[in-house]
Amino acid sequence: MTWSFQPAEPADRSAIEALLIASALPVTDLPADLDGFLILREGDILAACGGIEPLDPSTGLVRSLAVAPPRRGQGIADALLDALEERAAASGLTTLCMLTTTITTFAQARGYVPIPRAQAPEAIRVTAQFQGLCPDSAALLIKERPAPRT
Ligand SMILES: CC(C)(COP(=O)(O)OP(=O)(O)OC[C@H]1O[C@@H](n2cnc3c(N)ncnc32)[C@H](O)[C@@H]1OP(=O)(O)O)[C@@H](O)C(=O)NCCC(=O)NCCS
Repeated sequence: MTWSFQPAEPADRSAIEALLIASALPVTDLPADLDGFLILREGDILAACGGIEPLDPSTGLVRSLAVAPPRRGQGIADALLDALEERAAASGLTTLCMLTTTITTFAQARGYVPIPRAQAPEAIRVTAQFQGLCPDSAALLIKERPAPRT
């Protein structure tokens, strides 16, 4: 199954916030321009969203990955992460970070390696997510040189 992910536009913001809130994910630090965010629209419904927020010229934070409950378990998050990583690689990001309490196993299967929070790169250490929006129990995972899977 393939899905057509599209760049998020300012008009998508309220639907994205609603999906994130329903998914128990932070919204207060959503970037204003939503650059690096992709969404899946199905008619008037926002079925999925996710983004890679650049933290410095080489590092990006994978964030706000959410799929609407009726559409979960069908591979949408997997395909969305493929699309996000492809865009990140094209824009020159060579290190991707993820903070998560829910998808550590999935992230590891995708090549993200857990590292102790004490070893967090400076670029992620200063983010609101690292400093408090994500709980201390959130795992920090890093993937170097992301590339689309073959
Ligand atoms: C996590 C989430 C995005 C997965 O979306 P999805 O489209 O159902 O995921 P997929 O069908 O592509 O499955 C991808 C993998 O994630 C796993 N997965 C899905 N939901 C999961 C969950 N809640 N907890 C743990 N693992 C989960 C699946 O088992 C699958 O692993 P597999 O490929 O080894 O079988 C979705 O459940 C969601 O929106 N959850 C709430 C928000 C959240 O926790 N986001 C992650 C923040 S970093």
